[in-house]
Amino acid sequence: MLDGVHNDRIRCGRLRERIATAEEAAALIEDGMTVGMSGFTRAGEAKAVPMALAARARQHPLKITLMTGASLGNDLDKTLTEAHVLARRIPFQSDPALRRAINRGEVMFIDQHLSETVEMLRTRQLPRVDVAVIEAVAITENGGIVPTTSVGNSASFAILAEKVIVEINLSQPAELEGLHDIYIPTYRPNRMPIPVVTPESRVGLPFIPIPPEKIAAIVVTEKLDSSSTILDPDDDTRAIAGHLSEFLLHEVRAGRLDHTLQPLQAGIGTIANAVLHGFIDTPFHDLKMYSEVLQDSTFDLFDAGKLRFASGSSITLSERKYQEVLPRLAEYKPRLMLRPQEISNHPEVVRRLGLICINTALEFDIYGNVNSTHVGGTQMMNGIGGSGDFARNAYLSVFVTKSIAKHGAISSVVPMVSHVDHTEHDVDILVTEVGLADLRGLAPRERAATIIANCVHADYQPLMRDYFARASARGGHTPHVLEEALSWHVRLAETGRMA
Ligand code: COA
Repeated sequence: MLDGVHNDRIRCGRLRERIATAEEAAALIEDGMTVGMSGFTRAGEAKAVPMALAARARQHPLKITLMTGASLGNDLDKTLTEAHVLARRIPFQSDPALRRAINRGEVMFIDQHLSETVEMLRTRQLPRVDVAVIEAVAITENGGIVPTTSVGNSASFAILAEKVIVEINLSQPAELEGLHDIYIPTYRPNRMPIPVVTPESRVGLPFIPIPPEKIAAIVVTEKLDSSSTILDPDDDTRAIAGHLSEFLLHEVRAGRLDHTLQPLQAGIGTIANAVLHGFIDTPFHDLKMYSEVLQDSTFDLFDAGKLRFASGSSITLSERKYQEVLPRLAEYKPRLMLRPQEISNHPEVVRRLGLICINTALEFDIYGNVNSTHVGGTQMMNGIGGSGDFARNAYLSVFVTKSIAKHGAISSVVPMVSHVDHTEHDVDILVTEVGLADLRGLAPRERAATIIANCVHADYQPLMRDYFARASARGGHTPHVLEEALSWHVRLAETGRMA
């Protein structure tokens, strides 16, 4: 399949002998192994080897622990789940079939802060990676691996694994080379500061450095990344964006920010993308992003002349946006950088840069505790992702959500969250389409009054005011009627509605 042109993609001549079929490469993966695969929010995942592994497992059952950067595209998590390949899955997913298997207790899912996985691997607190499978746009003269549309955990997987399989994807544009900045922190306790001091700091190499002899097989593929499934902004998300930009303008007037703000981080999904898109219609300018996933809104902001630079760990776009962006990659390239998720999400860097972090809640409670992961307190949705890495260390930690879900059957603001991902201590600002609650410097009773007044949907206001009045009458620093605190969730489970 490789001709002279494609030799540009495998520039280390002696490695061309390692070209294999996906089936031959997948044969290196044995039952019981720990496998680290590239892939972060549907971008840059290894595509052929996992499919071949699933096909083999349908004939000859086997189980592995699968680690990735984050979620996989091309229905890979679904295919691997249905072939019963996954014993354990780390650290994030967003696939309905896998989600169901996790919630049935069939797949053990370790829902982890995304910056932590490779730190735990490096210190042998997680099982060693036997095989890494990494999608690449090229292999350099010295065997360095150039990732594609995501870096995720690929660099550390390749460095720490015993064997590496590389998938060279010919459909990924060659212009991706040069976009990556691979920096690996030194070992503790003698670690030096991570030298990222602005979103555009280049501190590492444009490829993953590994000894070429570790590359056990190279598979050539041409399958595209899956496009994202985010929806366009709607009236509610536009209202959320409006409240947030009004608040940030207030911060500018108060002299705490200027019109370039602080670097922005925005979480995954429809709501965070829509909120960031809303910055187009604001007086803010020369913005920078230091984020994890770069979604459509990043490129909308570039095109609107609002954004100067964006650093992330992956590029995940809708079908329409892929078609616009990929042919113009060279034009965007000087203003883009992709880093390992350990660095894009690193608490040290997040705190140093002073990020404004905008993440999405499934639900939050009257004191500001946030649940991002568990529907009804028990059913895993996707995972915490990077939201915890960012929220705890942010300059401003913002959580957004619509005030109701499922056509009003659910209030996203509840007396007590049914699962806590972000405690009240990590949450500064809450926004729904109803309004914005600024919780900075407020004690719990004040936080509750502000949240109820500004974020709760009108249909749930009377119930919530009644709950808080009765809780307050009982006293306490953080008042609750404990026997009722989760009654909204119980009512939902029993009747299909919270009220
Ligand atoms: N209870 C039950 N379901 C709820 C809910 C609630 N309180 N709030 C929202 N939902 C449902 C929605 O109805 C929707 O269901 P559907 O898929 O059946 O239509 C689904 O959750 C997604 O909600 P949506 O409103 O479309 O928001 P989104 O696409 O922006 O996703 C999260 C929201 C919370 C699921 C998503 O942002 C997430 O997984 N976050 C955690 C990880 C994270 O923050 N990563 C970023 C770090 S950089």
